[in-house]
Amino acid sequence: MLDHGAPPQSPQPSAGARLMRRKPVERLVAESGRGEGGSLRRSLGLWQLTMISIGATLGTGIFVVLGEAVPDAGPAVTLSFVIAGLTALFSALSYAELAGTIPVSGSSYSYAYATMGELIAWICGWCLILEYGVSVAAVAVGWGEYLNELLDGTIGVTIPAALSAPPGDGGIFNLPALLVVLLAMAFLLGGARESARANTIMVVVKIAALLLFCVIGVMGFRSGNYENFMPLGMAGVSAAGATLFFSYIGFDAASTAGEEAKNAQRDLPRAIMLSLLIVTALYVLVAAVAVGARPWQRFDGSEAALAGIMKEVTGDAFWGTLLAAGAVIAIASVVLTVLYGQTRILFAMSRDGLVPKAFSRVHAKTGTPRVNTVIVSLFCGVLAAAVPLGQLADATSIGTLFAFALVNVAVVVLRRTRPDMPRTFRLPLSPLLPALGFLFCVWMMSSLDVVTWVVFGIWMAVGLVLYFGYGYRRSRLATSGTS
Ligand code: ALA
Repeated sequence: MLDHGAPPQSPQPSAGARLMRRKPVERLVAESGRGEGGSLRRSLGLWQLTMISIGATLGTGIFVVLGEAVPDAGPAVTLSFVIAGLTALFSALSYAELAGTIPVSGSSYSYAYATMGELIAWICGWCLILEYGVSVAAVAVGWGEYLNELLDGTIGVTIPAALSAPPGDGGIFNLPALLVVLLAMAFLLGGARESARANTIMVVVKIAALLLFCVIGVMGFRSGNYENFMPLGMAGVSAAGATLFFSYIGFDAASTAGEEAKNAQRDLPRAIMLSLLIVTALYVLVAAVAVGARPWQRFDGSEAALAGIMKEVTGDAFWGTLLAAGAVIAIASVVLTVLYGQTRILFAMSRDGLVPKAFSRVHAKTGTPRVNTVIVSLFCGVLAAAVPLGQLADATSIGTLFAFALVNVAVVVLRRTRPDMPRTFRLPLSPLLPALGFLFCVWMMSSLDVVTWVVFGIWMAVGLVLYFGYGYRRSRLATSGTS
Protein backbone atom coordinates (compact mmCIF):
# COMPACT_ATOMS: atom_id res chain seq x y z
CA MET A 1 0.00 0.00 0.00
CA LEU A 2 1.15 3.51 -0.69
CA ASP A 3 1.82 5.68 2.30
CA HIS A 4 0.12 8.92 1.27
CA GLY A 5 1.58 10.74 4.24
CA ALA A 6 5.20 10.31 3.10
CA PRO A 7 6.86 13.04 1.03
CA PRO A 8 6.97 12.23 -2.68
CA GLN A 9 10.09 10.31 -3.67
CA SER A 10 11.81 11.13 -6.96
CA PRO A 11 12.07 7.81 -8.83
CA GLN A 12 15.58 6.33 -8.82
CA PRO A 13 16.88 5.98 -12.37
CA SER A 14 17.68 2.41 -13.36
CA ALA A 15 21.32 1.32 -13.63
CA GLY A 16 20.99 1.32 -17.42
CA ALA A 17 19.61 4.87 -17.42
CA ARG A 18 22.46 6.01 -15.21
CA LEU A 19 25.03 4.61 -17.61
CA MET A 20 23.32 6.39 -20.47
CA ARG A 21 22.95 9.75 -18.69
CA ARG A 22 24.02 12.56 -20.97
CA LYS A 23 25.45 15.90 -20.09
CA PRO A 24 23.47 18.65 -21.80
CA VAL A 25 25.54 20.72 -24.23
CA GLU A 26 24.41 23.92 -22.53
CA ARG A 27 25.77 22.65 -19.22
CA LEU A 28 29.07 21.62 -20.80
CA VAL A 29 29.45 25.08 -22.28
CA ALA A 30 28.28 26.88 -19.12
CA GLU A 31 30.92 25.12 -17.03
CA SER A 32 33.59 25.83 -19.62
CA GLY A 33 36.85 27.16 -18.16
CA ARG A 34 35.75 26.69 -14.56
CA GLY A 35 37.81 24.49 -12.32
CA GLU A 36 38.15 23.97 -8.57
CA GLY A 37 39.04 27.35 -7.08
CA GLY A 38 39.69 29.22 -10.33
CA SER A 39 39.35 29.47 -14.08
CA LEU A 40 41.56 28.66 -17.02
CA ARG A 41 42.72 31.70 -19.01
CA ARG A 42 41.56 32.37 -22.52
CA SER A 43 44.75 33.38 -24.28
CA LEU A 44 45.08 31.30 -27.45
CA GLY A 45 44.29 32.56 -30.97
CA LEU A 46 43.97 30.69 -34.28
CA TRP A 47 47.71 30.70 -34.95
CA GLN A 48 48.61 29.19 -31.58
CA LEU A 49 45.81 26.64 -31.79
CA THR A 50 46.99 25.52 -35.23
CA MET A 51 50.52 25.30 -33.90
CA ILE A 52 49.31 23.19 -30.96
CA SER A 53 47.75 20.71 -33.37
CA ILE A 54 50.81 20.65 -35.66
CA GLY A 55 53.05 20.50 -32.60
CA ALA A 56 51.23 17.44 -31.31
CA THR A 57 51.17 15.71 -34.69
CA LEU A 58 54.50 16.18 -36.45
CA GLY A 59 57.16 14.17 -34.68
CA THR A 60 58.11 10.56 -34.14
CA GLY A 61 55.83 9.36 -36.93
CA ILE A 62 57.75 11.08 -39.68
CA PHE A 63 61.19 11.08 -38.06
CA VAL A 64 61.17 7.49 -36.75
CA VAL A 65 58.11 5.43 -37.75
CA LEU A 66 58.47 6.19 -41.48
CA GLY A 67 61.65 4.06 -41.45
CA GLU A 68 59.70 1.18 -39.88
CA ALA A 69 56.84 1.37 -42.38
CA VAL A 70 58.90 1.34 -45.61
CA PRO A 71 59.86 -2.37 -45.35
CA ASP A 72 56.11 -3.16 -45.39
CA ALA A 73 54.97 -0.88 -48.19
CA GLY A 74 58.06 -0.12 -50.28
CA PRO A 75 57.89 3.15 -52.25
CA ALA A 76 54.10 2.95 -51.90
CA VAL A 77 54.60 4.21 -48.36
CA THR A 78 53.54 7.52 -49.89
CA LEU A 79 50.16 5.90 -50.55
CA SER A 80 50.08 4.56 -47.00
CA PHE A 81 50.45 8.13 -45.77
CA VAL A 82 47.55 9.19 -47.98
CA ILE A 83 45.34 6.36 -46.68
CA ALA A 84 46.19 7.13 -43.07
CA GLY A 85 45.65 10.83 -43.85
CA LEU A 86 42.20 10.12 -45.31
CA THR A 87 41.23 8.24 -42.17
CA ALA A 88 42.34 11.23 -40.20
CA LEU A 89 40.60 13.65 -42.58
CA PHE A 90 37.10 12.18 -42.25
CA SER A 91 37.44 12.13 -38.50
CA ALA A 92 38.97 15.63 -38.51
CA LEU A 93 35.82 16.93 -40.21
CA SER A 94 33.74 15.44 -37.43
CA TYR A 95 36.09 16.86 -34.81
CA ALA A 96 35.90 20.27 -36.46
CA GLU A 97 32.10 20.34 -36.36
CA LEU A 98 31.92 19.19 -32.75
CA ALA A 99 34.74 21.43 -31.55
CA GLY A 100 32.89 24.41 -33.01
CA THR A 101 29.59 23.33 -31.44
CA ILE A 102 30.85 22.16 -28.03
CA PRO A 103 34.01 24.25 -27.48
CA VAL A 104 35.26 22.69 -24.24
CA SER A 105 38.55 21.07 -23.21
CA GLY A 106 37.45 17.46 -22.97
CA SER A 107 37.61 16.88 -26.73
CA SER A 108 35.93 13.63 -27.81
CA TYR A 109 35.26 12.66 -24.20
CA SER A 110 32.94 15.67 -23.83
CA TYR A 111 31.36 15.13 -27.27
CA ALA A 112 30.55 11.55 -26.26
CA TYR A 113 29.13 12.73 -22.92
CA ALA A 114 26.74 15.06 -24.70
CA THR A 115 25.59 12.51 -27.25
CA MET A 116 26.04 8.91 -26.13
CA GLY A 117 26.03 9.07 -22.37
CA GLU A 118 28.38 8.64 -19.47
CA LEU A 119 29.62 5.09 -19.95
CA ILE A 120 30.64 5.69 -23.58
CA ALA A 121 32.14 9.04 -22.54
CA TRP A 122 34.24 7.30 -19.90
CA ILE A 123 35.36 4.67 -22.41
CA CYS A 124 36.27 7.46 -24.81
CA GLY A 125 38.19 9.34 -22.10
CA TRP A 126 39.98 6.13 -21.17
CA CYS A 127 40.97 5.68 -24.84
CA LEU A 128 42.22 9.26 -24.86
CA ILE A 129 44.63 8.33 -22.09
CA LEU A 130 46.12 5.88 -24.58
CA GLU A 131 46.13 8.55 -27.29
CA TYR A 132 47.67 11.22 -25.10
CA GLY A 133 49.22 9.89 -21.88
CA VAL A 134 50.69 6.64 -23.17
CA SER A 135 51.74 8.22 -26.45
CA VAL A 136 53.65 10.95 -24.58
CA ALA A 137 55.67 8.17 -23.00
CA ALA A 138 56.23 6.43 -26.35
CA VAL A 139 57.20 9.69 -28.04
CA ALA A 140 59.59 10.57 -25.21
CA VAL A 141 61.37 7.26 -25.84
CA GLY A 142 61.75 8.17 -29.55
CA TRP A 143 63.18 11.51 -28.46
CA GLY A 144 66.00 9.75 -26.63
CA GLU A 145 67.00 7.94 -29.84
CA TYR A 146 67.42 11.17 -31.77
CA LEU A 147 69.16 12.80 -28.82
CA ASN A 148 71.79 10.06 -28.96
CA GLU A 149 72.18 10.63 -32.70
CA LEU A 150 72.66 14.33 -32.04
CA LEU A 151 75.16 13.82 -29.21
CA ASP A 152 77.08 11.35 -31.31
CA GLY A 153 77.26 13.80 -34.22
CA THR A 154 78.26 16.80 -32.14
CA ILE A 155 80.40 15.65 -29.23
CA GLY A 156 80.97 12.03 -30.18
CA VAL A 157 79.36 10.53 -27.08
CA THR A 158 76.13 8.67 -26.62
CA ILE A 159 74.16 8.01 -23.48
CA PRO A 160 74.90 4.40 -22.47
CA ALA A 161 72.12 1.85 -22.92
CA ALA A 162 71.81 1.43 -19.16
CA LEU A 163 70.63 5.04 -18.92
CA SER A 164 68.64 5.23 -22.12
CA ALA A 165 66.39 2.19 -21.93
CA PRO A 166 64.06 0.73 -19.30
CA PRO A 167 64.60 -2.65 -17.63
CA GLY A 168 63.52 -5.36 -20.02
CA ASP A 169 64.73 -3.32 -23.00
CA GLY A 170 68.41 -3.66 -22.17
CA GLY A 171 68.77 -0.81 -19.69
CA ILE A 172 67.99 0.33 -16.16
CA PHE A 173 66.31 3.68 -16.66
CA ASN A 174 65.53 5.89 -19.66
CA LEU A 175 66.87 9.19 -18.44
CA PRO A 176 66.38 11.27 -21.63
CA ALA A 177 62.72 10.22 -21.78
CA LEU A 178 62.15 11.39 -18.21
CA LEU A 179 64.04 14.62 -18.84
CA VAL A 180 62.01 15.67 -21.86
CA VAL A 181 58.75 15.08 -19.99
CA LEU A 182 59.97 17.12 -17.01
CA LEU A 183 61.03 19.91 -19.36
CA ALA A 184 57.57 19.96 -20.90
CA MET A 185 56.08 20.00 -17.41
CA ALA A 186 58.12 23.09 -16.53
CA PHE A 187 56.70 24.96 -19.54
CA LEU A 188 53.14 23.86 -18.80
CA LEU A 189 53.39 25.00 -15.20
CA GLY A 190 54.38 28.43 -16.49
CA GLY A 191 51.08 28.88 -18.32
CA ALA A 192 49.24 27.96 -21.50
CA ARG A 193 50.31 31.06 -23.39
CA GLU A 194 53.98 30.60 -22.49
CA SER A 195 53.83 26.94 -23.50
CA ALA A 196 52.10 27.85 -26.76
CA ARG A 197 54.83 30.38 -27.52
CA ALA A 198 57.61 27.85 -26.95
CA ASN A 199 55.68 25.32 -29.02
CA THR A 200 55.29 27.75 -31.93
CA ILE A 201 59.06 28.26 -32.13
CA MET A 202 59.62 24.50 -32.06
CA VAL A 203 57.01 23.92 -34.77
CA VAL A 204 58.69 26.46 -37.06
CA VAL A 205 62.01 24.70 -36.51
CA LYS A 206 60.60 21.26 -37.24
CA ILE A 207 58.88 22.33 -40.44
CA ALA A 208 62.13 23.98 -41.53
CA ALA A 209 64.06 20.77 -40.77
CA LEU A 210 61.66 18.69 -42.89
CA LEU A 211 61.77 21.16 -45.78
CA LEU A 212 65.57 21.11 -45.59
CA PHE A 213 65.40 17.32 -45.77
CA CYS A 214 63.31 17.58 -48.94
CA VAL A 215 65.65 20.06 -50.59
CA ILE A 216 68.70 17.91 -49.88
CA GLY A 217 66.98 14.56 -50.39
CA VAL A 218 65.80 15.57 -53.88
CA MET A 219 69.46 15.80 -54.92
CA GLY A 220 69.81 12.07 -54.28
CA PHE A 221 66.51 11.19 -55.97
CA ARG A 222 66.66 8.18 -58.35
CA SER A 223 63.48 7.40 -60.27
CA GLY A 224 64.65 3.76 -60.44
CA ASN A 225 63.89 3.52 -56.72
CA TYR A 226 60.20 3.75 -57.66
CA GLU A 227 60.26 0.92 -60.19
CA ASN A 228 58.81 -1.75 -57.92
CA PHE A 229 56.23 0.59 -56.40
CA MET A 230 54.17 -1.88 -54.36
CA PRO A 231 56.49 -4.83 -53.69
CA LEU A 232 54.29 -6.38 -51.01
CA GLY A 233 50.95 -5.52 -52.59
CA MET A 234 47.99 -3.67 -51.11
CA ALA A 235 48.20 -5.68 -47.90
CA GLY A 236 51.63 -4.17 -47.24
CA VAL A 237 50.37 -0.69 -48.06
CA SER A 238 47.45 -0.93 -45.66
CA ALA A 239 49.57 -2.50 -42.90
CA ALA A 240 52.00 0.40 -43.28
CA GLY A 241 49.04 2.79 -43.30
CA ALA A 242 47.88 1.42 -39.96
CA THR A 243 51.38 1.81 -38.52
CA LEU A 244 51.69 5.32 -39.94
CA PHE A 245 48.36 6.35 -38.55
CA PHE A 246 50.40 7.08 -35.43
CA SER A 247 51.95 10.00 -37.29
CA TYR A 248 48.54 11.70 -37.58
CA ILE A 249 47.66 11.35 -33.93
CA GLY A 250 47.51 14.78 -32.41
CA PHE A 251 45.68 16.83 -35.07
CA ASP A 252 42.81 16.87 -32.59
CA ALA A 253 44.97 18.45 -29.87
CA ALA A 254 43.50 21.90 -30.54
CA SER A 255 40.17 20.49 -29.37
CA THR A 256 41.64 20.06 -25.89
CA ALA A 257 42.29 23.81 -25.76
CA GLY A 258 38.64 24.81 -26.09
CA GLU A 259 38.55 26.50 -22.70
CA GLU A 260 41.73 28.50 -23.28
CA ALA A 261 40.92 29.69 -26.80
CA LYS A 262 39.98 33.34 -27.27
CA ASN A 263 37.34 32.51 -29.88
CA ALA A 264 36.93 28.77 -29.58
CA GLN A 265 33.85 28.36 -31.72
CA ARG A 266 35.39 30.10 -34.69
CA ASP A 267 39.02 29.03 -34.34
CA LEU A 268 38.96 25.39 -33.23
CA PRO A 269 37.48 23.96 -36.46
CA ARG A 270 39.87 26.05 -38.53
CA ALA A 271 42.91 25.03 -36.50
CA ILE A 272 42.04 21.33 -36.77
CA MET A 273 41.55 21.39 -40.55
CA LEU A 274 44.50 23.66 -41.26
CA SER A 275 46.93 21.59 -39.23
CA LEU A 276 45.83 18.37 -40.88
CA LEU A 277 46.29 19.79 -44.36
CA ILE A 278 49.76 21.15 -43.60
CA VAL A 279 50.88 17.94 -41.93
CA THR A 280 49.56 15.64 -44.69
CA ALA A 281 51.28 17.68 -47.40
CA LEU A 282 54.56 17.54 -45.50
CA TYR A 283 54.30 13.79 -44.83
CA VAL A 284 53.65 12.84 -48.44
CA LEU A 285 56.45 15.11 -49.64
CA VAL A 286 58.99 13.83 -47.13
CA ALA A 287 58.06 10.17 -47.74
CA ALA A 288 58.26 10.62 -51.53
CA VAL A 289 61.72 12.16 -51.24
CA ALA A 290 62.93 9.57 -48.70
CA VAL A 291 62.06 6.50 -50.82
CA GLY A 292 63.34 8.29 -53.92
CA ALA A 293 66.69 8.93 -52.30
CA ARG A 294 67.22 5.49 -50.74
CA PRO A 295 66.10 2.11 -52.18
CA TRP A 296 63.27 0.76 -50.05
CA GLN A 297 65.12 -2.49 -49.34
CA ARG A 298 67.69 -0.51 -47.38
CA PHE A 299 65.23 0.78 -44.80
CA ASP A 300 65.69 -1.56 -41.86
CA GLY A 301 63.54 0.27 -39.38
CA SER A 302 66.25 0.42 -36.80
CA GLU A 303 67.80 3.85 -37.23
CA ALA A 304 66.99 7.50 -37.48
CA ALA A 305 66.09 7.10 -41.16
CA LEU A 306 65.85 10.70 -42.27
CA ALA A 307 69.15 11.72 -40.69
CA GLY A 308 70.80 8.68 -42.32
CA ILE A 309 69.51 9.69 -45.75
CA MET A 310 70.83 13.23 -45.31
CA LYS A 311 74.25 11.79 -44.51
CA GLU A 312 74.19 9.46 -47.52
CA VAL A 313 73.09 12.10 -50.00
CA THR A 314 75.57 14.77 -48.94
CA GLY A 315 78.36 12.46 -47.82
CA ASP A 316 78.72 14.86 -44.90
CA ALA A 317 77.72 13.85 -41.38
CA PHE A 318 76.98 17.49 -40.53
CA TRP A 319 73.64 17.45 -42.36
CA GLY A 320 72.56 14.29 -40.62
CA THR A 321 73.41 15.89 -37.29
CA LEU A 322 71.49 19.02 -38.23
CA LEU A 323 68.42 16.93 -39.01
CA ALA A 324 68.83 15.08 -35.73
CA ALA A 325 68.80 18.47 -33.97
CA GLY A 326 65.57 19.33 -35.82
CA ALA A 327 64.08 16.01 -34.74
CA VAL A 328 65.04 16.54 -31.11
CA ILE A 329 63.17 19.85 -31.13
CA ALA A 330 60.29 18.40 -33.16
CA ILE A 331 59.67 15.51 -30.83
CA ALA A 332 60.01 17.71 -27.75
CA SER A 333 57.13 19.82 -29.04
CA VAL A 334 54.99 16.67 -29.44
CA VAL A 335 55.70 15.84 -25.82
CA LEU A 336 54.78 19.37 -24.74
CA THR A 337 51.50 19.62 -26.62
CA VAL A 338 50.31 16.06 -26.09
CA LEU A 339 51.04 16.36 -22.38
CA TYR A 340 49.05 19.60 -22.43
CA GLY A 341 46.15 17.79 -24.10
CA GLN A 342 46.18 15.02 -21.51
CA THR A 343 46.02 17.46 -18.63
CA ARG A 344 43.04 19.28 -20.18
CA ILE A 345 41.11 16.09 -20.90
CA LEU A 346 41.55 14.96 -17.29
CA PHE A 347 40.56 18.47 -16.22
CA ALA A 348 37.22 18.04 -17.97
CA MET A 349 36.73 14.51 -16.62
CA SER A 350 37.52 15.68 -13.11
CA ARG A 351 35.03 18.53 -13.32
CA ASP A 352 32.44 15.90 -14.17
CA GLY A 353 33.42 13.88 -11.11
CA LEU A 354 34.74 10.87 -13.07
CA VAL A 355 38.31 11.32 -11.82
CA PRO A 356 39.44 12.96 -8.54
CA LYS A 357 38.92 16.68 -7.99
CA ALA A 358 42.65 17.39 -7.81
CA PHE A 359 42.75 17.25 -11.61
CA SER A 360 40.50 20.29 -11.98
CA ARG A 361 42.11 22.50 -9.35
CA VAL A 362 43.32 25.72 -11.01
CA HIS A 363 46.28 27.71 -9.76
CA ALA A 364 45.17 31.30 -9.13
CA LYS A 365 48.33 32.95 -10.45
CA THR A 366 49.04 31.02 -13.64
CA GLY A 367 45.49 29.97 -14.48
CA THR A 368 46.68 26.41 -15.12
CA PRO A 369 45.77 23.09 -13.50
CA ARG A 370 49.08 22.70 -11.66
CA VAL A 371 48.46 19.62 -9.53
CA ASN A 372 47.05 17.88 -12.57
CA THR A 373 50.10 18.85 -14.64
CA VAL A 374 52.52 17.52 -12.04
CA ILE A 375 50.65 14.21 -11.57
CA VAL A 376 50.27 13.61 -15.31
CA SER A 377 53.90 14.53 -16.02
CA LEU A 378 55.27 12.28 -13.31
CA PHE A 379 53.06 9.44 -14.48
CA CYS A 380 54.11 9.82 -18.12
CA GLY A 381 57.76 10.44 -17.22
CA VAL A 382 58.05 7.32 -15.09
CA LEU A 383 56.12 5.27 -17.65
CA ALA A 384 58.57 6.39 -20.35
CA ALA A 385 61.66 5.91 -18.20
CA ALA A 386 61.02 2.70 -16.33
CA VAL A 387 58.47 0.61 -18.22
CA PRO A 388 59.21 -1.20 -21.48
CA LEU A 389 56.23 0.11 -23.41
CA GLY A 390 56.28 -2.45 -26.21
CA GLN A 391 52.73 -3.43 -27.03
CA LEU A 392 51.23 -0.70 -24.87
CA ALA A 393 52.70 1.88 -27.25
CA ASP A 394 51.18 -0.02 -30.19
CA ALA A 395 47.83 0.14 -28.45
CA THR A 396 48.01 3.95 -28.74
CA SER A 397 46.78 3.81 -32.33
CA ILE A 398 43.93 1.43 -31.59
CA GLY A 399 42.77 3.61 -28.68
CA THR A 400 42.91 6.71 -30.84
CA LEU A 401 41.05 5.03 -33.69
CA PHE A 402 38.37 3.93 -31.25
CA ALA A 403 37.97 7.50 -29.97
CA PHE A 404 37.86 8.84 -33.55
CA ALA A 405 35.21 6.25 -34.48
CA LEU A 406 33.09 7.49 -31.56
CA VAL A 407 33.48 11.11 -32.69
CA ASN A 408 32.14 10.15 -36.11
CA VAL A 409 29.09 8.66 -34.41
CA ALA A 410 28.73 11.63 -32.04
CA VAL A 411 28.55 14.17 -34.85
CA VAL A 412 25.63 12.34 -36.46
CA VAL A 413 23.84 11.84 -33.14
CA LEU A 414 24.13 15.55 -32.29
CA ARG A 415 22.78 16.52 -35.72
CA ARG A 416 19.72 14.37 -34.94
CA THR A 417 19.23 15.24 -31.28
CA ARG A 418 20.17 18.93 -31.43
CA PRO A 419 19.62 20.19 -34.97
CA ASP A 420 18.90 23.61 -33.46
CA MET A 421 22.43 24.20 -32.13
CA PRO A 422 24.47 26.87 -33.88
CA ARG A 423 27.37 25.24 -35.75
CA THR A 424 30.29 27.37 -36.84
CA PHE A 425 31.49 24.55 -39.07
CA ARG A 426 29.24 21.99 -40.74
CA LEU A 427 30.89 19.00 -42.30
CA PRO A 428 29.52 18.35 -45.79
CA LEU A 429 27.58 15.26 -46.87
CA SER A 430 26.52 14.11 -43.41
CA PRO A 431 25.99 11.27 -42.58
CA LEU A 432 28.04 9.91 -45.52
CA LEU A 433 31.39 11.40 -44.51
CA PRO A 434 31.13 10.50 -40.81
CA ALA A 435 30.08 6.98 -41.89
CA LEU A 436 33.19 6.78 -44.08
CA GLY A 437 35.27 8.12 -41.19
CA PHE A 438 33.84 5.42 -38.94
CA LEU A 439 34.47 2.66 -41.49
CA PHE A 440 38.03 3.82 -42.16
CA CYS A 441 38.73 3.73 -38.42
CA VAL A 442 37.34 0.21 -38.15
CA TRP A 443 39.36 -0.87 -41.20
CA MET A 444 42.56 0.55 -39.72
CA MET A 445 41.82 -1.11 -36.39
CA SER A 446 41.34 -4.44 -38.13
CA SER A 447 44.81 -4.11 -39.70
CA LEU A 448 46.45 -4.06 -36.28
CA ASP A 449 47.78 -7.34 -34.92
CA VAL A 450 46.09 -9.67 -32.46
CA VAL A 451 48.45 -8.88 -29.58
CA THR A 452 47.59 -5.19 -29.87
CA TRP A 453 43.91 -6.10 -29.66
CA VAL A 454 44.52 -8.23 -26.58
CA VAL A 455 46.42 -5.39 -24.89
CA PHE A 456 43.60 -3.03 -25.84
CA GLY A 457 41.05 -5.45 -24.38
CA ILE A 458 42.96 -5.56 -21.09
CA TRP A 459 43.22 -1.77 -21.09
CA MET A 460 39.46 -1.43 -21.54
CA ALA A 461 38.74 -3.98 -18.82
CA VAL A 462 40.89 -2.00 -16.37
CA GLY A 463 39.05 1.17 -17.43
CA LEU A 464 35.67 -0.38 -16.74
CA VAL A 465 36.76 -1.58 -13.30
CA LEU A 466 37.89 1.97 -12.48
CA TYR A 467 34.65 3.47 -13.76
CA PHE A 468 32.41 1.18 -11.75
CA GLY A 469 34.66 1.51 -8.71
CA TYR A 470 34.80 5.32 -8.80
CA GLY A 471 33.18 7.45 -11.49
CA TYR A 472 29.82 5.68 -11.61
CA ARG A 473 29.03 6.77 -8.07
CA ARG A 474 30.88 10.07 -7.97
CA SER A 475 29.78 11.42 -11.29
CA ARG A 476 28.44 14.94 -10.84
CA LEU A 477 25.44 14.09 -12.95
CA ALA A 478 24.68 11.29 -10.47
CA THR A 479 25.25 13.35 -7.35
CA SER A 480 23.34 16.36 -8.67
CA GLY A 481 20.48 14.09 -9.68
CA THR A 482 20.43 15.15 -13.33
CA SER A 483 20.09 12.44 -15.91
N1 ALA B 1 51.77 12.05 -34.18
C1 ALA B 1 52.70 12.09 -33.12
C2 ALA B 1 54.04 11.71 -33.59
O1 ALA B 1 54.17 11.29 -34.70
C3 ALA B 1 52.24 11.26 -31.99
O2 ALA B 1 54.97 11.80 -32.85
